[in-house]
Amino acid sequence: MKGEGYSLQSYSLHSYNPFSQSRIYLHFKIHKRSVPTPLLDIGLAQTTLYPFGLEVERAEGVYIYTTDGKRYMDFISGIGVNNLGHGHAHIKQTLHEQIEKHLHVMVYGEYVQASQKRAAELLTAVLPSSLNTCYFVNSGTEAIEAALKLAKRVTGRTQLIACKGAYHGNTHGSMSVSHNEKKKATFRPLLPDVEFIGFNTMNDLERITHKTACVIAETIQGDAGVRIPDAAWLQALRTRCTETGALLILDEIQCGMGRTGTLFAFEQFGIVPDILVLGKALGGGVPVGCFVASRERMTLLTHDPMLGHISTFAGHPLVCAGVSACLEVFQNEKIVAPVETRGQRIATFLRSLPHVQEVRQRGYYFAIDLPSEEHVRHIVEYCLAHGVITFWFLSCPWSFRIAPPLTISDAEIDEALGVIERAVRGY
Ligand SMILES: Cc1ncc(COP(=O)(O)O)c(C=O)c1O
Repeated sequence: MKGEGYSLQSYSLHSYNPFSQSRIYLHFKIHKRSVPTPLLDIGLAQTTLYPFGLEVERAEGVYIYTTDGKRYMDFISGIGVNNLGHGHAHIKQTLHEQIEKHLHVMVYGEYVQASQKRAAELLTAVLPSSLNTCYFVNSGTEAIEAALKLAKRVTGRTQLIACKGAYHGNTHGSMSVSHNEKKKATFRPLLPDVEFIGFNTMNDLERITHKTACVIAETIQGDAGVRIPDAAWLQALRTRCTETGALLILDEIQCGMGRTGTLFAFEQFGIVPDILVLGKALGGGVPVGCFVASRERMTLLTHDPMLGHISTFAGHPLVCAGVSACLEVFQNEKIVAPVETRGQRIATFLRSLPHVQEVRQRGYYFAIDLPSEEHVRHIVEYCLAHGVITFWFLSCPWSFRIAPPLTISDAEIDEALGVIERAVRGY
């Protein structure tokens, strides 16, 4: 079914709202108009009826340039990926060099590839000594799947405990440990033996027992609207896992890689997970996931059964070159240190605006609560129309998100905040 002669960009500007999709869908159906299908019409799958629809020509620094000659400030870093901005020179150069050497040569785990070795060396060098063995995979959700499997393999147990509000990905296993029932119901049955405890709820820790294979938590919850736990809760969670022999998996796919003002968010809470899961910004813009554990535990994936987790493209040389380049930038450019102070300046400004009810912030990770979904929709659409990209949270509809690249300048921040201020005041 084709859409009816609409302009993709102007259409999406006025109509996109992920929380009333079925209402908008029904509107089209009732008025006997075909539902617009802008990506499907060019042979691409759609994930919503109302994609933003920007047609990207190129991206550089904090800006995305579209084919109609417009420039947009990417104030969400492609949802927590472009922490180093777009097109960082060192990342581009390293990727070019790797392309000249080789691309895929063999399924993961058989050959020694210099790009994988370098990525693992650099990553383990910035992690605690117990997190000394990396498994690079293709996406965040795959890394979560593999981490859950590793926890079952290590403990011989089946129960998985996750947190209310969690988002860990979109394949069956990671969806099973994600909390938003609206997103899961259609795809049941999912994994059995999954329990949810309150994020930051002390009393619920008792539910972790000797039957529990692992507890999985985002160190700072993202999709729930940037929820920052108390250090005391995370520390008690760590203790309870140790007491019961359950593994603690921390998902830093979104809150890692400098986003919250330290390279890894767990550093701020005085704990170390048994398995750390990374993704998104780790690759500097190439698709990657990674789970990191002790050598002793990771060794268990080699037997009983052999090939405990395998994937053809895991640890792809180009992707690992991206990881190395990204970690080298963090090593050389010292970009993380100023993030918390500058983030607090942004939060203070946002808190001073009318309609803003609460701002949750750590580093450059922000959720801004407004009185209603309609306010949020207005802000996101106004900002997009005025060249600044902000976005929704799926599980926190009264909040909008900003997560600028860590490399953004003060002048660029002020430019974006000016647009957000006009959007908020103009409601
Ligand atoms: C905290 C968290 N975990 C897991 C994922 C899944 O990662 P991916 O989309 O790369 O599969 C995401 C993605 O947004 C995430 O934010």
